[in-house]
Amino acid sequence: AAAEKGGYDTFMAKEIHEQPQAVADTLRGRIDEAGQIVLDEVRMSDQDFRDIDKVFIVACGTSYHAGLVTKYAIEHWTRIPCEVELASEFRYRDPVLDRSTLVVVISQSGETMDTLMALRHAKDQKARVLAISNTVGSTIPRESDAVLYTRAGIEVAVASTKAFLTQLAACYLVGLHLAQVRGIKYADEVSAILDELVAAPGKIAKVIEHLEPVREMARNSAGKDRVLFIGRHVGYPVALEGALKLKELAYLHAEGFAAGELKHGPISLIEEGTPVVAIVPSPRGRSLLHDKIISNIQEVKARGAKVIAICEEGDAITASHADFVIETPATPTLLAPLLTTVPLQEFAIELATAMGRDIDQPRNLAKSVTVE
Ligand code: G6P
Repeated sequence: AAAEKGGYDTFMAKEIHEQPQAVADTLRGRIDEAGQIVLDEVRMSDQDFRDIDKVFIVACGTSYHAGLVTKYAIEHWTRIPCEVELASEFRYRDPVLDRSTLVVVISQSGETMDTLMALRHAKDQKARVLAISNTVGSTIPRESDAVLYTRAGIEVAVASTKAFLTQLAACYLVGLHLAQVRGIKYADEVSAILDELVAAPGKIAKVIEHLEPVREMARNSAGKDRVLFIGRHVGYPVALEGALKLKELAYLHAEGFAAGELKHGPISLIEEGTPVVAIVPSPRGRSLLHDKIISNIQEVKARGAKVIAICEEGDAITASHADFVIETPATPTLLAPLLTTVPLQEFAIELATAMGRDIDQPRNLAKSVTVE
């Protein structure tokens, strides 16, 4: 068993380290010489794609968080309205769907029953379905009109890591594909984003090389009643994912919030010493958002929080406000989740290990949930 884990203590640790390769594999061959995105299976014409006037992304768990990130990218790149929904809620609320709706279903296993049922409902309503899955030939991609496979390889740990990062990569490709078939609005931006996507695996590797400070912070946070995660823009879904990882592994009350919502309730949870992990956007470009999260950091610190900030390399302003800082390489805002998620995975492993938890097989959880 030790050999299977490639020298790591757990499959999850091994899978965290496989992320640069998994993302590179997922991108390989998907961008042709002309810079066009290539899907694996498409039973839809370019005209069908051009007729799309609304996108729904439907998924569960970690895959749902990949969907939340994707909404920001799709709306920005394509100007098509995009909604993200939990598969278990989707079909029961009678969503408005027709032939010009694209439903993107994201499922690592390709067998999650809630997601499959949502897909079938979408097809009954004549919507087009595009699947993003890690499992070739599984039910969800088989029943979809178009497929893009992630190439994470087999993920053994129940808590998803490399599958999530490859879902993000695949989702970005889908967003760019939609932008391309519909006539690109931001042609320069799209080609710059493609270059940055290709550069992402090297940057993820860099984040992985510098995880030791995260481990130390995680050990310092063991024994606390709760850990809160805050973020804005795409940092918000990253906060949700960081909290989910910690819940799954440590059995600890962990919650992610849109930082702007703190004042509307969650700030009452802050006590002396409560760890708050802040996902800070780049100070370049969207500096408005950066200013706002700095205010949020000041608000929680004033109430006793210990702030751990995940920020861009060289972000001196954040460094002067936070108690601890983890730096990630610069990348376009929309792609940042490929980097900022990684320290949170390591944070969860280390904190849960300090609490004596079973990392690969947390209690009550299953890798693939095939019941509704
Ligand atoms: C289970 C797993 C999660 C996963 C979710 C969705 O709850 O424990 O890690 O995110 O299912 O799985 P899927 O295979 O559809 O992505």
